[in-house]
Amino acid sequence: MKAVILVGGQATRLRPLTTNTPKAMAPILNTPFLEHVFRHLHRHRVSDIILAQHHLAGPIEDYLGDGSRFGVRVTYVIEDSPRGTAGAIKNVEKYLDETFLVLNGDIFTDLDITAMVDLHRQRGAVATIALTPVEDPTAYGLIETDVRGRVMRFLEKPDWSQVTTNMINAGTYVLAPEVLARILPEQKVSIERETFPLLVDSDEPVYAYPSSGYWMDMGTPEKYLQLHRDLLGGRSTWHSLASPEEVRTGERCTIHPTAQIKGPAVIGDDCSIGPGVKLVGPVVVGGGCTIGEGSVVEDSVLWWQVSLGERVVVKNSAVANDCRLDSDSLVEGSVLGNNVTVAAGSRLETGSRCEPGATV
Ligand code: GTP
Repeated sequence: MKAVILVGGQATRLRPLTTNTPKAMAPILNTPFLEHVFRHLHRHRVSDIILAQHHLAGPIEDYLGDGSRFGVRVTYVIEDSPRGTAGAIKNVEKYLDETFLVLNGDIFTDLDITAMVDLHRQRGAVATIALTPVEDPTAYGLIETDVRGRVMRFLEKPDWSQVTTNMINAGTYVLAPEVLARILPEQKVSIERETFPLLVDSDEPVYAYPSSGYWMDMGTPEKYLQLHRDLLGGRSTWHSLASPEEVRTGERCTIHPTAQIKGPAVIGDDCSIGPGVKLVGPVVVGGGCTIGEGSVVEDSVLWWQVSLGERVVVKNSAVANDCRLDSDSLVEGSVLGNNVTVAAGSRLETGSRCEPGATV
């Protein structure tokens, strides 16, 4: 089976992490997001993956290559202008001749793709939309179904008096190739707002596949950090640690005997953790990081080659590649893009966002 993954968006809400890193390459537990997705698809016997790209396309191909490391074949297609979620699928039409999958490139999920495809076939659907429950349905587009799961209505951001379901579009679809004929070529088209409502209004069989598996749209820094807390806390059936206390350490790390590490924690290769350092999980330390004497890192994600001086405190934050936090600085509730320098003694408190290359 083939899958189209939509990875061409601007990822504005996840900036500054994604100012110069594609959202699809943001590390999740030290592994680029798309690699997790590739492994999930491979488990469900997807053999061919088409990446629909636009913004920041290069680094994705550099890392994934032809896909053979992950047991799949990859085709890269770059849109000359952003086509939206349906236009991007139309743009790769020549690669699609049978039932195929479509995935938003920012959803981390345990979804049982095999069962979803089975349901699509049993129902004779032209489109099947995975659904996931949410606590506050008023912030989303809701999908109402009949008892057999046939989609009856889309409700965009309803107020509480209109809420009849808490199920939202989970960003994974199974589509019959006929759907491609319903998308105008060379145009920006949204599958959620245009193509699916068009199919339902034309009485085409569109079905829903409700899933209670783990699901997270990692489109904002808050959700990106929450995804890490969830995975480290064992809330996904895959990629969770063996126990909530586990400390998984990479190769060639130097950890001073007086450092204290409280799991859950994942530490990449080639890290140096100095005397008296405290790592308080959930925490992820990327490969090649250096953490100086007496520093504390708690409930945070550090990407690669981050360097912390002495007595630095990082809490509830995400810090991207190659940042340098000098001694006695504090970074709390903040998000730092690549290559940010935090000067000695500086304090970045809740809500700070630093664009790549900044010195603060
Ligand atoms: P924001 O700018 O933060 O809203 O993020 P985004 O650009 O990723 O948009 P959104 O979260 O709505 O997109 C959902 C998925 O569709 C993401 O995986 C995007 O990469 C992808 N996507 C959105 N627009 C396009 C597009 O025009 N072309 C392609 N190929 N993919 C798109």
